[in-house]
Amino acid sequence: MEFYGAWRVLSTLSEGNFGCVHKAVRAEDKTPGALKTIPIDEARAKYGKMNSTITLWNELAIHSECEHPHIVTCLQTFTVGNDACLVLELMTSDVLTEVLEHGAMTEAVAFTFTSQIISAVAYVHSQGIAHRDVKLENVMRAPVIKKSEDVFKLSDFGLARKAELYAGCRTLCGTFEHVAPEILNVQSTSGSYGQQVDMWAFGISLFKVLTNDLPYEGRTQDFNPQIRKGQVCFPKNLSGSVNYCIQNMLLFQPHERVRANAFDFALIKDFASLSECIFAIRTHTKTFQSAP
Ligand SMILES: Nc1ncnc2c1ncn2[C@@H]1O[C@H](COP(=O)(O)OP(=O)(O)OP(=O)(O)O)[C@@H](O)[C@H]1O
Ligand SMILES: [Mg+2]
Repeated sequence: MEFYGAWRVLSTLSEGNFGCVHKAVRAEDKTPGALKTIPIDEARAKYGKMNSTITLWNELAIHSECEHPHIVTCLQTFTVGNDACLVLELMTSDVLTEVLEHGAMTEAVAFTFTSQIISAVAYVHSQGIAHRDVKLENVMRAPVIKKSEDVFKLSDFGLARKAELYAGCRTLCGTFEHVAPEILNVQSTSGSYGQQVDMWAFGISLFKVLTNDLPYEGRTQDFNPQIRKGQVCFPKNLSGSVNYCIQNMLLFQPHERVRANAFDFALIKDFASLSECIFAIRTHTKTFQSAP
């Protein structure tokens, strides 16, 4: 029986770049949890001493301070020997696995997903943080409590850092298919990028959850110039409203792109209908242009 602090490991859920996520249970009261263990030495060796140290402690510090109904709750952080440990509330699966196993979401479920995760992103941004790795693998579905109620939560703050809306970051990082143009262009423009990269990444995620595809042409190695120019293409089988919503998230210019806090949550308690989506982004009426 393997223990990390008070937590007994039951099985392995995922083996990632930096460490493992285990299904675990707290021995004293049987609370279930997802135990993420990150070997400190390996993280340092892989990414250089300074960077990995910052990233590792950022993840623990930022995630444990985030409290929001659509962010996976951090139950405990601690170190055991060479491992930094993060215990999270146990979720059922990540959304990418769900899409790969069961196919694309319906538009109604995708809007619940959108409403919940955008509210989480708005909260993260209000804390002065850019997540920088918004994608379906990092959105989890909560165990079903009420039948037919979908609950999604954002997780994985491994790349999160302090940032402003449009500036503050320079590091080329994220997941290639989800990176915003300003991230790939940051070196050539000698500028910086900010929290708005999360809205681009969410736009790609929403596209993927609905189509099981990406808005680029060709193979992954062909994407770079398309991303740099913000050249995205849309399938015909999505409703006009959905296209409009995604297009506002995939605007090349970060200051024209819809902001997480521009969704009107007071008026959209139940974000399940397409007309409400249009209403939600009504402050951004600019016609979509795929490139500057
Ligand atoms: N709270 C959780 N409940 C259930 N499964 C989880 C939980 N957290 C993470 N997982 C599973 O572990 C995977 C990796 O977790 P996470 O995204 O936090 O780590 P990572 O740093 O991205 O690892 P990787 O190197 O694979 O990118 C998730 O995609 C999910 O399948
Ligand atoms: Mg992840």
